[in-house]
Amino acid sequence: MPPAEQGPLPKAELHLHIEGTLEPELAFALAERNGVALPYATEDELRRAYSFEDLQSFLNLYYALMAVLRTEDDFTDLAHAYLARARHQGVRHAEIFFDPQAHTARGVPVGTVIGGLARALDTAQERYGISTRLIMCFLRDESADSALETFEAARPYLDRITAVGLDSAEVGHPPAKFAEVFALAREAGLKCVAHAGEEGPAGYVWQALDILGVDRIDHGVRCMEDERLVARLVAEQVPLTLCPLSNVRLRVIDDLAAHPLPAMLDAGLLVTVNSDDPAYFGGYVDDNFIAVREALGLDDATLRTLARNSFRASFLDEDTRARYLREVDAHEAAAPARRPGW
Ligand code: HPA
Ligand code: ZN
Repeated sequence: MPPAEQGPLPKAELHLHIEGTLEPELAFALAERNGVALPYATEDELRRAYSFEDLQSFLNLYYALMAVLRTEDDFTDLAHAYLARARHQGVRHAEIFFDPQAHTARGVPVGTVIGGLARALDTAQERYGISTRLIMCFLRDESADSALETFEAARPYLDRITAVGLDSAEVGHPPAKFAEVFALAREAGLKCVAHAGEEGPAGYVWQALDILGVDRIDHGVRCMEDERLVARLVAEQVPLTLCPLSNVRLRVIDDLAAHPLPAMLDAGLLVTVNSDDPAYFGGYVDDNFIAVREALGLDDATLRTLARNSFRASFLDEDTRARYLREVDAHEAAAPARRPGW
């Protein structure tokens, strides 16, 4: 049997903001449904605004567009749209971030957000063949008290939530600010992750490990500036969820060919490739795999390592993890004759 069309590598996506999957088409449709005015006349005009100087300039647009998300149905539709695309990118498992404070600040209750997302995720295995988890992120440029209030407001829904995370404008908002809410989350049996070392310094990665007790670091590219930190991350095999196209669009790195991903793999770090905010950064997760393959000359074996890492770094139970890893191996077995451009 020829290896024929295998489709993209099976993979887990571990760094994906559901609000960052809001494509212009859906933004306009929801704006109309909810009677919300957008400051852009057309989808093209909106797309032309996707030219960012840094993280903050992206976040300004990201939060502004969320005005169209108001009802449970909106969150359900948003999640379905992501899952339908993710299936074609080889995603078998998705651990999905959401930003409750970006919605509660606009008068949308946290129960509406979680309820709407959960309705789509409940059907994801059957409809898309994708297992899912939810990660509730705190906005680090809001106060520690706001994070605590958000956690308490979400308590009735914690059975739907696997982990807490930390995102938004990094510089000037160190992980230590959120020690208390992360301690509460750990007490409640949740896993913990945090964005650190994207725009912020390596010191923020140390804080995320030592003060927040995180199980994974989101981004973490700037760990490469600190040899002792790299040694620690390697020794403990703390996963890093890299987002290469995001790094280029937000000017964390100058261009993809200069991405430290190969050096990070060589150092023995447990790195994964993810899409972050794919509607804004020019690609979903397999588009990121293809982009790093092209720009960095990664071979098939390295891409399979990245796919394996994504399952190793996930919060899956061991049986499911092993099943997905076997799927990657099966892909490998059929792979040798594959032409470029899958
Ligand atoms: N960094 C920080 N916060 C975010 C991001 C990001 O890349 N995307 C959405 N919120
Ligand atoms: Zn992110």
